[in-house]
Amino acid sequence: MRLVVKKNYDEVSQMAAIEIMNLINKKPNCVLGLATGSTPIGTYKELIKYYKLNKIDFSKVTTFNLDEYRGIKGDNPQSYRYFMDNKLFNSININKKNTFIPNGIAKDIEEECKYYDNLIESKHGIDLQLLGIGNNGHIGFNEPGEFLYINTHLTNLTKNTIAANSRFFNSMEEVPTQAITMGIGSIMKAKKIILLASGKNKANIVKELFTEKLSTKIPASILHIHADCTIILDEEAACLLN
Ligand code: GLP
Repeated sequence: MRLVVKKNYDEVSQMAAIEIMNLINKKPNCVLGLATGSTPIGTYKELIKYYKLNKIDFSKVTTFNLDEYRGIKGDNPQSYRYFMDNKLFNSININKKNTFIPNGIAKDIEEECKYYDNLIESKHGIDLQLLGIGNNGHIGFNEPGEFLYINTHLTNLTKNTIAANSRFFNSMEEVPTQAITMGIGSIMKAKKIILLASGKNKANIVKELFTEKLSTKIPASILHIHADCTIILDEEAACLLN
């Protein structure tokens, strides 16, 4: 696992966006794995900037998002589909038909999960997966627990995650308690992974991640055994590392 510490959030975002831009320029029909949450917003802003400067062409790019809330429609402002459209897709020349996000309102969830993994396979896998990290070490919505799930699946969100996500909702009752997420295996199959973490509130989990032990209690720790994974931190997120 390669560790890069940047001065601040803007520099983290710039580095991640440059990596993505370089990949697209090298392989215009590449497959990107994308994430939601506050952390990648700066990366998406940078990508939009490069697009407007004619430095990137997204027309042949395919994207797969990590996860989506269960029971929330794509036109709901709280959905991850809405987030991606607004934070990135609406501002670049990507073909929306090539942007995939699990269907949170699918009737047959098991079928939807299988379909999603098969779809990724049919596009020859993910070239670069962008990740954030939850305060409890989750990636996508792979929550800490006794097991980690290999494939895309329906998951119950932990109290900790529901509380963290509540900042985007009007009340606790509105916060979804379930989500469809790519599994740890789906994520680990990506050829390259970039995990971003920024700010003091990520310092504790970042410290735990770098104890260099694998644990299902810290799902992101599996990234230690990925062949091409870069963790980009800002100084605040890295402040408890020696
Ligand atoms: C959600 C998403 C994760 C994301 C995490 C951290 O739980 N499912 O993919 O990494 O939030 O979010 P933030 O970047 O806002 O700290």
